[in-house]
Amino acid sequence: MNAVAAPVSVEPAAPVRIVRERSGDAAAIDALVLAAFGPGRFAKTAERLREAAQLAVGFTAFEGERLIGSVRLWSIMAGEARSVFLGPIAVDASSRRGGLGAELVQACVEEARAMKLDGVLLIGDPPYFSRFGFVAAPDAVFSGPVDRRRIMWLPITDAAPIGAVHPVA
Ligand SMILES: CC(C)(COP(=O)(O)OP(=O)(O)OC[C@H]1O[C@@H](n2cnc3c(N)ncnc32)[C@H](O)[C@@H]1OP(=O)(O)O)[C@@H](O)C(=O)NCCC(=O)NCCS
Repeated sequence: MNAVAAPVSVEPAAPVRIVRERSGDAAAIDALVLAAFGPGRFAKTAERLREAAQLAVGFTAFEGERLIGSVRLWSIMAGEARSVFLGPIAVDASSRRGGLGAELVQACVEEARAMKLDGVLLIGDPPYFSRFGFVAAPDAVFSGPVDRRRIMWLPITDAAPIGAVHPVA
């Protein structure tokens, strides 16, 4: 007799919501970011800047009650330019390549425009971020070792990120 596969019931995926980060999200965000980057991220110059800066806003992506994406913006000055520092951005491995990362970046850019900032700064992979309009910003100076080819800027006004990057408390 042929074996007959038992019917599998597949729950439809809950719709994905992008909402502002709430204080209770921190532990789930930490776990998501750790899974995406590994523990090495804590040695990075970017992490030192985030430790000293105020969180301006964070955005989270939820599928039902499950956190599947996160991005944060930190208040900084980049030379004379009023800015936010974007990162870390992470999407759960099982939810990648569906445009969620792009939606999170877009939420950040819209927020920076609403805050009337001069631009958004980050340290990241140019092949990913150039698609959103980020351009090289090698003249932004961090207080630690950085691969200058990975410093990127999304311009909102004409002010350029030239000079020391420092947190705004
Ligand atoms: C980067 C990340 C947030 C993108 O999330 P996502 O939801 O998959 O993003 P999107 O669906 O908008 O974009 C997916 C596309 O970006 C590409 N991509 C992802 N990471 C990339 C990178 N570091 N460099 C270049 N391209 C990248 C994917 O290959 C995919 O390409 P395709 O559209 O041709 O298939 C996610 O891959 C992630 O969490 N990665 C681990 C953490 C990380 O490296 N974050 C910072 C990146 S500097």
